[in-house]
Amino acid sequence: MSKRKAPQESPNEGITDFLTELANYERNVNRAIHKYNAYRKAASSISKYPQKLRNGDEAKKLDGVGKEIAKKIDEFLQTGTLKKLEKIRNDDTSSSINFLTRVTGIGPAAARKFFDEGVKTLEDLKNIEHKLNHHQQIGLKYFEEFEKRIPRAEMTKMETLILQELKLVDTEYIGTICGSYRRGAESSGDIDILLTHPKYTSVDEKQPKLLHAVVEHFESIGFITETLSKGDTKFMMFFLHVYFPCCSQYNFPYHCRLIPKDQYYCGVLYFTGSDIFNKNMRTHALEKGFTLNEYTIRPVGVTGMAGEPLMVDSEKDIFDYIQWKYREPKERSE
Ligand code: TTP
Ligand code: MG
Repeated sequence: MSKRKAPQESPNEGITDFLTELANYERNVNRAIHKYNAYRKAASSISKYPQKLRNGDEAKKLDGVGKEIAKKIDEFLQTGTLKKLEKIRNDDTSSSINFLTRVTGIGPAAARKFFDEGVKTLEDLKNIEHKLNHHQQIGLKYFEEFEKRIPRAEMTKMETLILQELKLVDTEYIGTICGSYRRGAESSGDIDILLTHPKYTSVDEKQPKLLHAVVEHFESIGFITETLSKGDTKFMMFFLHVYFPCCSQYNFPYHCRLIPKDQYYCGVLYFTGSDIFNKNMRTHALEKGFTLNEYTIRPVGVTGMAGEPLMVDSEKDIFDYIQWKYREPKERSE
């Protein structure tokens, strides 16, 4: 998953920026996922508010903005800053842990562990490279490149190329580039691609060959520079070598998954996101008596037990089951 999120342009950018910074602090340093979600939800609804907020009370009318966040908004609007954030930024522990989590493969727990061992900077990480796992070593090697976002025009070129090459391997493959790209974003942090094949369903045996054939083909044309977890049929990650007109040559993360055909559209829905949209949709599904995840949608019986997965042949089928108006990927920011 990509770590760099696209900047949001709104008349309340200052506020959404500080809420995002607080969210990341809660996730990375305190590992407080509920607080992380709460700040992100508030930032997301404020980013869609068309006017400049005048005070915390006005913000409180928006979804996800409570008393505490309203107070912070008042402080920010009155003083131009936030004491809590100043403290976090000046704190060595917080800023080091936050920094370490920017490396792909280093999550909050690993960052804390490294910090406790005195590792704080890129230089420090280079010195203990032998202690890093394969994923983290790649994160370190391509640190600067992975911080860049991929312009939409490049994403479109890659999409055409990937789908073309896929058909060369086997015309029956179906592929979809999901993530922020599918939602119409101007730039993306990574390529999230889902594949399926009519010969692969959840009742079949695993079909490692189907994915390996794709990987081998992409390797043979020089697309892949590094590979993560090649053995796994469900989850793969590798890196493409692409040519940017501006900076000649560039590596970026590419997540590829092969999904059984009957679970494909639940997967496409999930990996298109956004994650906030996914959460809201799952909540709505539960209210209607269904449990939804990245694989299946299942009815929940009176006992609270989930039943057999329902047949799904498109994303729209899932919206229909839970009686929700279909939303195009572009309308799925929340
Ligand atoms: P990401 O690639 O992390 O997000 P993104 O493609 O929306 O944004 P970016 O341009 O920065 O890459 O994950 C892809 C989708 O997977 C995301 O849109 C929704 C889903 N997802 C969740 O629902 N929950 C999660 O915790 C993560 C990491 C992803
Ligand atoms: Mg993405």
